Amino acid sequence: MWQMQGKQRRLIGFARATSDHAFNATLWDVVVHPDFQSKGLGKALMKFIIKKLRSDDISNITLFADPHVVEFYRNLGFISDPEGIKGMFWYPD
Ligand SMILES: CC(C)(COP(=O)(O)OP(=O)(O)OC[C@H]1O[C@@H](n2cnc3c(N)ncnc32)[C@H](O)[C@@H]1OP(=O)(O)O)[C@@H](O)C(=O)NCCC(=O)NCCS
Repeated sequence: MWQMQGKQRRLIGFARATSDHAFNATLWDVVVHPDFQSKGLGKALMKFIIKKLRSDDISNITLFADPHVVEFYRNLGFISDPEGIKGMFWYPD
């Protein structure tokens, strides 16, 4: 997401998605610059990326939510897995 000022553009938000190009995609690094938060841009960014993935026929979109943004994603329709699937992590000792 860019702020345009004349010919200059400034990065003010981004999100990444990794996908198997078939069924599944996972969202990463959803970020809006602090100066531009609480203006609806995060929601717009999420709707944009979901629309793009849906247009590519991706039917399952997942993400790992930090505790302080669970409600943000819930408001966009994200739910805990209905079958109880848990995100699991492995770290080196
Ligand atoms: C989380 C983040 C992307 C939200 O972007 P934003 O532009 O501030 O959010 P918006 O203004 O689009 O808010 C959309 C809605 O979500 C709500 N919302 C925003 N942040 C929220 C939060 N942390 N918790 C609960 N609700 C939140 C807003 O109140 C708004 O509600 P409304 O539609 O009823 O008015 C942004 O705060 C951010 O970049 N945070 C730091 C990085 C981060 O934590 N990313 C997530 C990593 S999992």
